[in-house]
Amino acid sequence: MTAGFDDRQPPVAGPDHDVDQGASGSPSWNTPWPVAGSKSRSTAGLNRKMNLLVNGSVRSVESPPDKPLLWVLREDLGLTGTKYGCGIGRCGSCMVHLDGVAVPSCMLPLAAAEGLAVTTIEGVAAGGRITMVQQAWLDHGVSQCGYCQPGMIMGVLALLGESPRPSAAGAAARLNVLCRCGTYPRVLKALRALLGS
Ligand code: FES
Ligand code: FES
Repeated sequence: MTAGFDDRQPPVAGPDHDVDQGASGSPSWNTPWPVAGSKSRSTAGLNRKMNLLVNGSVRSVESPPDKPLLWVLREDLGLTGTKYGCGIGRCGSCMVHLDGVAVPSCMLPLAAAEGLAVTTIEGVAAGGRITMVQQAWLDHGVSQCGYCQPGMIMGVLALLGESPRPSAAGAAARLNVLCRCGTYPRVLKALRALLGS
């Protein structure tokens, strides 16, 4: 079993993981979080121009190649649906799809996304129609504060794309997204409606 459907506790903030809220009051990417296996965020301030395929459109960005994709999406492209939670790949609130696979964008350097299709929560509703996962979430009133829900929905959409599809219990066990509001019972109901038990 994984986060949320067992008794896993939230990541504990410590001296190495305190968030710099910055002058604006919002966390910023250049806080001292370890990224992509590295203990530092040293970028030497070197920007690189890159084209990213995001939600079906080519987007041009100029950023350090090791800047986490999460912050490129939020700060450079204005796609703030993808949320910052732990910054260390454990809470799942920053989940996006990379070529259809759910990945925590807080741990993914920008350069690793080059040439791959990035999908965020803003890009899942085709033609203005919400996905069956979002409809199930509405039907079962899953969301509470909503903060974790983009990551939760991206995780479920990736699982639905698998063949064979997991059962609801299997999906719940693999849905590695932490919900501080404790919406797990409603998540499970919505998963049962989508996947069977
Ligand atoms: S912000 Fe928690 S896994 Fe990325
Ligand atoms: S709905 Fe509030 S953190 Fe999940």
